Amino acid sequence: MKKLGLAIIGLIGMIGCVSNKAARVELPSMMSDSLKKVTMEQCNKGMALFVENCSSCHGDSSKKKQTIPDFSPEQLSNYEFRFANKKHEEQLSEAQLTQDELVQIITFLTYKKKNK
Ligand code: HEC
Repeated sequence: MKKLGLAIIGLIGMIGCVSNKAARVELPSMMSDSLKKVTMEQCNKGMALFVENCSSCHGDSSKKKQTIPDFSPEQLSNYEFRFANKKHEEQLSEAQLTQDELVQIITFLTYKKKNK
């Protein structure tokens, strides 16, 4: 019983840490816990990558807090978007961003909480 208590306290502590700096995402409740964990990791990496690689062009810096745009599923489902725009071709080539990194960014953008 004591061990369980400690485990719960530990878990709450961990959730606290994660939600602090973690990507603000909403995962479907039907997703299994193990898939949630993996997806959350992807999202956290994806958010950092987005800030690094995309925010300079996609972000509203007129507001105090930088907002990350809501892209539609159609815009994100198309892997071709690397080349959807001439600016992308120049700045998002495989040399700058690996396919894995791009998938992490797309995962994050797919599950990120919508802007109000
Ligand atoms: C050098 C500037 C620049 C950078 C960096 C950039 N984009 Fe774009 N992106 C554009 C422009 C310009 C467009 C076309 C106009 C628009 O939709 O805003 C565009 C369009 C898009 C679209 C819409 C495509 C469609 O089918 O309508 C998506 C999604 C997108 N960008 C995602 C990203 C992601 C993710 C990154 C980072 C990996 C990124 N962009 C980095 C300039 C940029």
